Amino acid sequence: MCSSSWKTMAVALLLIELWFTIESSLAHPDKIVKLPGQPPRLSFQQFSGYVTVDYKKHKALFYYFVEAETDPASKPLVLWLNGGPGCSSLGVGAFSENGPFRPNGEFLVKNDYSWNREANMLYLETPIGVGFSYSTNTSSYEAVDDEITARDNLVFLQNWYNKFPNYRHRDLYITGESYAGHYIPQLAKLMVEFNKKQNLFNLKGIALGNPVLEFATDFNSRAEYFWSHGLISDSTYNMFTSVCNYSRYVSEYYRDSVSPSCSKVMSQVSRETSKFVDKYDVTLDVCISSVLSQSMAINPQQVSERVDVCVEDKIVNYLNRKDVQKALHARLVGVRLWTVCSNILDYQLLNLEMPTISIVGSLIKSGIPVLVYR
Ligand SMILES: *[C@@H]1O[C@H](CO)[C@@H](O)[C@H](O)[C@H]1NC(C)=O
Ligand SMILES: *[C@@H]1O[C@H](CO)[C@@H](O)[C@H](O)[C@H]1NC(C)=O
Repeated sequence: MCSSSWKTMAVALLLIELWFTIESSLAHPDKIVKLPGQPPRLSFQQFSGYVTVDYKKHKALFYYFVEAETDPASKPLVLWLNGGPGCSSLGVGAFSENGPFRPNGEFLVKNDYSWNREANMLYLETPIGVGFSYSTNTSSYEAVDDEITARDNLVFLQNWYNKFPNYRHRDLYITGESYAGHYIPQLAKLMVEFNKKQNLFNLKGIALGNPVLEFATDFNSRAEYFWSHGLISDSTYNMFTSVCNYSRYVSEYYRDSVSPSCSKVMSQVSRETSKFVDKYDVTLDVCISSVLSQSMAINPQQVSERVDVCVEDKIVNYLNRKDVQKALHARLVGVRLWTVCSNILDYQLLNLEMPTISIVGSLIKSGIPVLVYR
């Protein structure tokens, strides 16, 4: 080869190198290159990281965003929120319910029913103190309430749009479950108000799974549910509906003043339901790690459950791995471990008693469809 073609080749190599440098610096800073143990060759992109919602108080919320499996540009944006208050949408929603993967030992197993088959899914750990979300000033964890949470969630989405401008006017749905029956209607209400000044949120609908909308109604379904599933006796059911119902118990509990009659009823109810029944699905086993691994050792073929009842343990292990946190661009600030539900957040739990059903009504009146599923 003559010297001029060497030169051409050297220049070409230089250009290629330069291209890769530009390309990688152009890649979104929150893009997840690869989650440890994930299946090879994914058809969709994943992103995660922080969005600051309050610079003065150093409050940052952590999100995990998975684009739709096919043609994300034509699919809506869906924000998912778990409840608690204080539980993680990353751990519960994304990694055990409707996200693309479930942790299993070292690996992430594909979820065939992932909602990112149909939508671009955004999972938000909110409020601060939940999961990887934090404030560097720990006094911000005190007296967090529905109002603060709704405002922070609104600011989160506004600022998230700056990171992902392509999604700014995308059809938006907000979904979630349980205490998100408080978060979602209140966030949607702020969006509707915000849109009157500046049209930003293209909110197309909200869907609420098993939500808390009206405290007394929702909590008192418990007695009927336990009784009709054979978990409590007729006489206990009678006490649980006349002597002390569940909403009264919860109300007393959060005021630190459980009456002797409620205390008596509740201990009878817990004795009969026991810790060996999953209250969310009475047909499932419960996860008792040592018992399960013992029975697995004795009789492996018997433990072939459709639902992995120990998924929560696996999520806690997975999300506490340093390599996983690095891949997610996540940090633990002020806590030693990632937990499913926060133990540093001091939420105003009496907010539970404020009904949000009327907000749902006004959202429907303003033209936003609402789906409530149980
Ligand atoms: C933390 O927040 C509290 C309440 O807002 C404030 O009084 C305090 O000065 C803050 N501390 C720091 C170190 O910023
Ligand atoms: C539950 O108890 C409260 C307080 O005693 C009472 O006001 C309410 O009507 C009860 N609800 C039901 C469904 O029994």
